[in-house]
Amino acid sequence: MVELKIFSATSNKSLADKIGDALKVEISPLEITIFSDGEKRVRVVDRVVEKNCVVIVSTAAPVNENYMELFLIVDALKRSGAKSVTAVIPYLGYQRQDHVFRDGEAVSLEVIARIVEGLKVDKIITFDLHSIKIPEVFNIPVVHLSALPLFTEKLETRKSRVENTVLVSPDMGGIRRIKILSEMLGDMPYATVDKNRDLETGEVTAVSIDGEVLKRAIIVDDMISSGKTAVAAADILAKNGAEEIIVMATHAIFSGDAAKVLQNCRVSKVVVTDSIEIPEEKRFDKLEIIGIADLISQELKK
Ligand code: R5P
Repeated sequence: MVELKIFSATSNKSLADKIGDALKVEISPLEITIFSDGEKRVRVVDRVVEKNCVVIVSTAAPVNENYMELFLIVDALKRSGAKSVTAVIPYLGYQRQDHVFRDGEAVSLEVIARIVEGLKVDKIITFDLHSIKIPEVFNIPVVHLSALPLFTEKLETRKSRVENTVLVSPDMGGIRRIKILSEMLGDMPYATVDKNRDLETGEVTAVSIDGEVLKRAIIVDDMISSGKTAVAAADILAKNGAEEIIVMATHAIFSGDAAKVLQNCRVSKVVVTDSIEIPEEKRFDKLEIIGIADLISQELKK
């Protein structure tokens, strides 16, 4: 395997440590200083000349700060002579604004892509993007990994209970994801919720369900932000006869009081990955976190 130097931004140090452990590579030190006005200064301590470097950063909240840190780390590595820089961004912030929804809006993802390319990042490794078209926005290689195999493992261990189970996409945008998972699970039945989100208030309404609702429903999504989508889907599923409802989502953004909302809704379990570090205060009894470090380290070994 090519020798790697791994650096961790501040956003997801525990994931970086797990990746380092899996690869038997110590995380290289970085000096990150914050000035009184909030500006950051980044300094690479080790010699990186001609080294293949990896930066691990989840660009979730505080999104702008985490992106800025990534930009500064990449710049420091490139200036210090790194041969290549791979950015492992398990959760890619700003991905949802990948086009203009309403006249006059910026396309945030394009802005991120141009900055990352300008800094000469060589490759991005990321997880469960909101749309499969997102890699096309970047003019550098984007490795798009998925947590679906981990969800499959989790569901397969409960084989005795797969009868009477339906996979559910909580919106039309997730149909592709749910079809893939259904195939991985031997054509498990699936259904789709038709949801409406008010772009001004953010309120979510589940309008209808396409497909048969069975006793046990597994809602599968790419991310949980406010939790409103999951809750709306769970409500309509329960109204249509589902008795046990589980949510599986790759990215636990958990904005605002999402943790409380999820703990108090009719869902019995919320399974997410560690693509975003979840602070203690946002963890709750129903939450189960599965790790993606092995998938990332296998990719880095290639
Ligand atoms: C939307 O299309 C996404 O796939 C998620 O369903 C959405 O971002 C979840 O957001 P929230 O938890 O705020 O409803």
